[in-house]
Amino acid sequence: MLNQNVEKAINNQINAELYSEYLYLSMSAYLKSINMNGCAAWMNIQAQEERAHAMGMFDYIIRRGGKVVLEAIEKPQTEWKDVVDVFSSALKHEELVTSKINALANVAQENSDRATSLFLNWYITEQVEEEENFNDLVSQLNMLKNDSSALYALDKELGARQFVAPIIK
Ligand code: FEO
Repeated sequence: MLNQNVEKAINNQINAELYSEYLYLSMSAYLKSINMNGCAAWMNIQAQEERAHAMGMFDYIIRRGGKVVLEAIEKPQTEWKDVVDVFSSALKHEELVTSKINALANVAQENSDRATSLFLNWYITEQVEEEENFNDLVSQLNMLKNDSSALYALDKELGARQFVAPIIK
């Protein structure tokens, strides 16, 4: 049986992951509106990943005999200055998610829930990759932002991203 404090903390993180999905969808819509179609497609796949992160926790609560409680999802930002602003905001958001995952791991540890601690290791490792990806993209975009043909090529490259469902267990 899942400890009540741990269950509540995982439910909160499901909400944070679904908010991430919503935020990245909103970013995708904005990127479409400024004709950065490849970046928009890339961000749409990022949104799908967030959904998978939420569902990993959703399934875990159920497997442990707990109760999933879905709360309202906050309205995300809808406007940004430009493509660099979008990816910089996404990087900041991922840093916030990392701190939330770390806080959740602390709750599992404080409640001596070894199974949840092990489960959360996947998310801790994933956050390293998430921050790294956004960091790289922000650096590249900052280098290319005044070179329209290089920006066009990067947009095209990002548009080739395919969704690969993560295996979370
Ligand atoms: Fe679910 Fe991008 O962290």
